[in-house]
Amino acid sequence: MIVALALIGVVVVGTVWLRTGRSETQSSSADRPPDPGSESPPVDPRQSFATPYRNIRPEVKYVGDAACATCHDVIAQTYHQHPMGRSAEWVRPGAAVDHAAGAHSSFDTSGYRLSVVHKGDRVWHQVGLAGGDEDAPTYAVRADLAIGSGSRGRSYVTFDRGAAWQSPVSWFGQRDRWDVSPGFDLAKEIRRPVVARCLACHTNQPEPIPDSLNRYREPVLATQASIGCERCHGPGELHVKERERGDRPAVDTSIVNPVRLPTDLRADVCRQCHLQGAVQVARRGLHAGEYRPGLPWEQFVSTFLWHPELTQAHKSVGQFEQMEASRCFAGSGGQLNCTSCHDPHAKPTPAAADAYFRGRCNTCHDSRGCSLPAPARAEKNDSCVICHMPRRDSSNVAHVAVTDHRIMRRPDTGDARTKVLAAGQTPLVAYRPGPHAASAAERERDLAIALGDECARSGAPPGLWAFVEARLDRALDLWPADAPTWITRSRVRAARGDGPRAVEAARNAVAIKPDSEVALIQLAGAAIAADDYESAARAAERLITLNPSSADHRLTRATAYFSLKDWAKAEENCRAVLAIQPVRPNARFMLAVCVHKRGDAAGGKRELDLALRLTPSSEVRATLSKWYAQLTR
Ligand code: HEC
Ligand code: HEC
Ligand code: HEC
Ligand code: HEC
Ligand code: HEC
Ligand code: HEC
Ligand code: HEC
Repeated sequence: MIVALALIGVVVVGTVWLRTGRSETQSSSADRPPDPGSESPPVDPRQSFATPYRNIRPEVKYVGDAACATCHDVIAQTYHQHPMGRSAEWVRPGAAVDHAAGAHSSFDTSGYRLSVVHKGDRVWHQVGLAGGDEDAPTYAVRADLAIGSGSRGRSYVTFDRGAAWQSPVSWFGQRDRWDVSPGFDLAKEIRRPVVARCLACHTNQPEPIPDSLNRYREPVLATQASIGCERCHGPGELHVKERERGDRPAVDTSIVNPVRLPTDLRADVCRQCHLQGAVQVARRGLHAGEYRPGLPWEQFVSTFLWHPELTQAHKSVGQFEQMEASRCFAGSGGQLNCTSCHDPHAKPTPAAADAYFRGRCNTCHDSRGCSLPAPARAEKNDSCVICHMPRRDSSNVAHVAVTDHRIMRRPDTGDARTKVLAAGQTPLVAYRPGPHAASAAERERDLAIALGDECARSGAPPGLWAFVEARLDRALDLWPADAPTWITRSRVRAARGDGPRAVEAARNAVAIKPDSEVALIQLAGAAIAADDYESAARAAERLITLNPSSADHRLTRATAYFSLKDWAKAEENCRAVLAIQPVRPNARFMLAVCVHKRGDAAGGKRELDLALRLTPSSEVRATLSKWYAQLTR
């Protein structure tokens, strides 16, 4: 039954009547209340990092691409043809692309019908029942922002009261058609919160509200949507002012030119978006959006990769990890960089690409060149890239390198990995620390958070739990007022069945950051699991005030009231969920029970029928019917 519950995403509801016999871990000494005390405050590299560049300081303002175009017109023109210069677009009349055109714009999948339609002069995405069942509920949202130039694909974002939500329909450029957004399981979710990292990599200057899940300062992306000059050069205010006034410095320290940076800081400019890794953890007291070109990226964000034995299974291997594994990189003493081959301002046309990249390879390989005889190379137009950096056609998923950046002598001969970790190995490993790495203690804290979250999500052998818990404890000894560590501490305790202390840890996080949505979500979830429904309802209350467009927060409150058998309030909250997301079988099911409990058996049955129609899996449907009978007996 738990399995079936998980299938429709109502595990929390399941705990109401299904005791799962959780094992209690022995409880240790009570947590200290968070007291910053003598804790060392986090360092802000924008204030403290030694560099000649003056535009890394937090007070220097961003001005937008239009301000650069007046003097750098050629670069501005080519850059805006590059996929990065077209990385996002508002879906509005006059957009460069018709965002509803293309094949497969209405299709049935896993029991649902998804469609992309014009309504007036705007584009809407809809989710209803497969087969075009007209009177079943439909989820319809306006597509506000397109993410992706389309070379690989586009995803769509809707803004509702400052919160960003991803649509379940995406455009797949290489397949030339619409389809379900990558990673979506429609039976569980038909939209996802668009977290700050997502927009930070794909748009120019999103301004996330601190500690929120997916809320942004409005107007969102006021200057421009697409990634702009200043993401690689830093804020332009000083430079524009000084150049406009006619300054001609021998060395211009008002703006960062990446080519003048030391190798590692130069790579960091690209790493901020091209090194995704498996998990990223914001450094203590900082967030990714505070990074500026010229500063060390590793002082803002710690990146963790899957252990090499596991990479094939997870496939999340990007250009950086691959390039740094190449012989060219090692053999050149780390001189090989993204810009050894890529002009960040312009992409070669397909016709010019072979010659362009050959020229790039030959900056190093002129003397020590290819050992394959020339006639054999001529067969492939002497395209170094075709033979040494082949494309993997199978992959249509963004964020996985398609072009093999390992620059192999011969094409990959297969996968020799064991996919099994030896004792003492951890599933996540830190991306190699650079010259500006934080202290060992800070890095241990980041690893503890990364591993703790991963283990809480997918489980762990006993030795790994102990490893993680020891590091979390150590981090909390050093920095008792670090809310993110408390949140992970709570997740780990919850996963290990220590409900009451999971609540305690989440409470500490909320005490430190009363408006942190992530902390409040953890508190509500932990409280429900520990049967503390009043606390859960209070946390949900706060969450709804902070983020009123979230159906999830309302479902959490519905679940709390449902568990308290307050059927009237539970019903009200289920209806609020369904007003935002009419296609949400678990909320519909809970509503059915509430309606029945409030004395309307026929109404309850009607809602149950709807919930069943919205549930594609026959197995889950059978389970729901059985429960309904039990719950309404
Ligand atoms: C008023 C004219 C003007 C404006 C506006 C302007 N620049 Fe410049 N910029 C110059 C001049 C002149 C140079 C020096 C010659 C050159 O490299 O073109 C320069 C140089 C640069 C350099 C190279 C610096 C170096 O040390 O090599 C970068 C990078 C740069 N600008 C970026 C920008 C960006 C980004 C913007 C918009 C935020 C911008 N510029 C706006 C005039 C301007
Ligand atoms: C602000 C985030 C960001 C930064 C900084 C950034 N990139 Fe990108 N880059 C992207 C995104 C997002 C895409 C995908 C754009 C699209 O197609 O929508 C991309 C695409 C690319 C592409 C593929 C273009 C194609 O052929 O489709 C190359 C090459 C590239 N970036 C190189 C670089 C290099 C080199 C640097 C550093 C000098 C860099 N990027 C810095 C976000 C970034
Ligand atoms: C760490 C930075 C990063 C994050 C976070 C990230 N992306 Fe990307 N994304 C990229 C880069 C870089 C590319 C370019 C292709 C590549 O490198 O594989 C890309 C490619 C894409 C593409 C294909 C664009 C094209 O080239 O046509 C889409 C669509 C996309 N991402 C959507 C998303 C969405 C939606 C999210 C968040 C929910 C997200 N990405 C999170 C960096 C990121
Ligand atoms: C994806 C990162 C990225 C973006 C976006 C970007 N640049 Fe650059 N820019 C670079 C890098 C890297 C260099 C150094 C190139 C080199 O010499 O290897 C550079 C160099 C420059 C220079 C020095 C002169 C030259 O031609 O090398 C100027 C000027 C400049 N950029 C202006 C701009 C302007 C204006 C924009 C926006 C329209 C822009 N850049 C967008 C990465 C970027
Ligand atoms: C920054 C300089 C640099 C650039 C640019 C560069 N390489 Fe290399 N590459 C090297 C060096 C140095 C070695 C030798 C490594 C060794 O001998 O251990 C190497 C080795 C190789 C090898 C042998 C790999 C092996 O496993 O034996 C191949 C193949 C290769 N490069 C192809 C390319 C291609 C194709 C390009 C362009 C797409 C390219 N390289 C660009 C520096 C570079
Ligand atoms: C030795 C040359 C070389 C180096 C170094 C290199 N690339 Fe590429 N990259 C290519 C080639 C060739 C392609 C395929 C042709 C194209 O898309 O234009 C490519 C494609 C890409 C793409 C498009 C997605 C894909 O996988 O096809 C992105 C994004 C990208 N590179 C980013 C980077 C980043 C970031 C770095 C630095 C970590 C980097 N590249 C280093 C040669 C290189
Ligand atoms: C038709 C496919 C093909 C093309 C095109 C090609 N190569 Fe190769 N290259 C090979 C093969 C196969 C080998 C390995 C030969 C061997 O093992 O003896 C090789 C070997 C190499 C090596 C290792 C040389 C050594 O002495 O160890 C380098 C470096 C290299 N290629 C670079 C390049 C560059 C640069 C280009 C473009 C100018 C290029 N290759 C074009 C297939 C190709």
